[in-house]
Amino acid sequence: MCGIMAYIGKKQATPILLNGLRRLEYRGYDSAGLAVLQNDNLVRFRAIGKVDNLSEKIKNEKLNSTIGIAHTRWATHGGVTENNTHPHSGCDDKLMIVHNGIIENYREIKKELGDHKITSETDTEILAHLIEKNFSGDLKDAVVKSLLLVRGTYGLVAIHAKEPKKMVAARLGSPLVIGIGDEEYFLASDASPILPYTKQVVFLNDGEVAEITENSLQIYNLKDQKVKKKIEELDWNEEQAQKQGFPHFMLKEIFDQPTVFEDAIAGRINFEEGTAVLGGLNMTPEQMKSINRIILIACGTASYAGQVGKFAFERLAGIPTDVEIASEFRYKDPIVDEHTLVFGISQSGETADTLAALREAKRKGAYIRGIINVVGSTIARETDGGTYIHAGPELAVASTKAYTNMVAILILYAIQFGRNNKLSLATGQRLISAIKEIPEKMNLILKQNDKIKEIALKYKEYRDFYFLGRGINYPVALEGSLKLKEISYIHSEAYPGGEMKHGPISLLDEDFPVFAIATKNQLYEKMVSNITEAKARKAKIIVLATEGDEEIKHLTEGVIYVPPTMELLEPLLNTLPLQLFAYYITVALGKDVDRPRNLAKSVTVE
Ligand code: AGP
Repeated sequence: MCGIMAYIGKKQATPILLNGLRRLEYRGYDSAGLAVLQNDNLVRFRAIGKVDNLSEKIKNEKLNSTIGIAHTRWATHGGVTENNTHPHSGCDDKLMIVHNGIIENYREIKKELGDHKITSETDTEILAHLIEKNFSGDLKDAVVKSLLLVRGTYGLVAIHAKEPKKMVAARLGSPLVIGIGDEEYFLASDASPILPYTKQVVFLNDGEVAEITENSLQIYNLKDQKVKKKIEELDWNEEQAQKQGFPHFMLKEIFDQPTVFEDAIAGRINFEEGTAVLGGLNMTPEQMKSINRIILIACGTASYAGQVGKFAFERLAGIPTDVEIASEFRYKDPIVDEHTLVFGISQSGETADTLAALREAKRKGAYIRGIINVVGSTIARETDGGTYIHAGPELAVASTKAYTNMVAILILYAIQFGRNNKLSLATGQRLISAIKEIPEKMNLILKQNDKIKEIALKYKEYRDFYFLGRGINYPVALEGSLKLKEISYIHSEAYPGGEMKHGPISLLDEDFPVFAIATKNQLYEKMVSNITEAKARKAKIIVLATEGDEEIKHLTEGVIYVPPTMELLEPLLNTLPLQLFAYYITVALGKDVDRPRNLAKSVTVE
């Protein structure tokens, strides 16, 4: 997720662009850049780090321009370097673009560009060269023509020195808001940088292209047909705008999941071969075959994603896999050698326990790889490869979208190893097809937001909870329990359903509710029995069930339905209602959802 700001009008563009980027830094702060039109040429400035570094870099420049584009970067393709910083140009500096999203087929496009000189590692630069190649005097036409060749997600703004009084913007999957002033227009990734100038906005929808001059705004679709848009009057304050209208970052990030899940799998699945393509693994097929054990090292939510990964690696690749709590790992004399592959799973890439455990595994000769969200983070730099989960900045302390994207990458790795082993083409293709349906199924669950809220509000006064799940849903129960306890401060524990009768069931009574995950899979009947046992102890039962399961209703005070999917992919769906359940109880209790007490977003101490 990056931040885009652009301006065309009568004021000096540079201060507007810099102030806009500062309001967008929460979307990414690896590096920042801007380009303005000066004496019929585009001049570009870029700097690593925060916007202040960019501001410092240009403070002595005599800039005099009323049109410009700017960007603050959250690195996805390509490291944190000045060269990878937006704006990006084509072969000459006549065209500049800023982009937020992922161009899935940038490698294929690059091959078609012929002798274009590529200077960065980014997918965005490839898009700039494509637009340059298609430019024959009309920037909007060049952008539309290029986007018809693109697969992926984008929010982009382009300017061209040969059409000096024009900006062209387009959106597919990454937000763009247009602010309408008095003979001036503002463009931004959210409304927060626009609010100081105007509250009149137009939200670009997916598949729309905007052609903007200082006194005109025309929206087109990708068929080049004009589209009429409603001008909205915003009554948000700046913080609400950064949350795109959601009351908390956690809720926004829960609703980000379908989009960022698509970013996680973009360019990384191959249906024809029924496999995944995770180039960052940095291992030959022979090296992959030499692996006889996998260890997934992580903390908290990341470790629960690892527990889903264990199922995936063992079931799809037949490789014994252990999940290790990072803070325990290095003190247990771990058995690790050159046939062991160790993944460090971490949203922040800075968790001290995980980093220390990885260093210990490396010392013992294992392959060390990362499954990380923050590009260029310490763990990303210290591992010998791995995969970025592309969840975008996760600002709420309670991890949500990073968890589902970690699970996605782990399943893709398991498919990749499996197809390098005994996993059949047919099974691989079935998994890839089911994976591609996940974003839409996530959306179906998120549409039940109000129903889940209604159920959650009935349980906000309880002081204890059990979350029960079996098999692949036990890690889901662990994650749901952690979500509730860490933000609402309600005591909560997770157990495998079959474990209750070995002790925990003694605590159950009418004041000790149970949230049971009983989706239709091989353990459904067993789970129903566990629910019956809990109900017999007068516990109130909430059930997560598969759409269409009517019989489960007689066992529960509240049932939340999820769409069916392959058993191994269930955590990608079943976790969402638990995230919303914890969220709504916490809001009802008046707790600080995004900044819960005693916690930090990244635990950089052991
Ligand atoms: C999850 O909601 C918590 N914030 C916490 O368990 C977190 O997952 C854990 O600290 C690991 O953080 P990391 O993914 O950045 O390494």
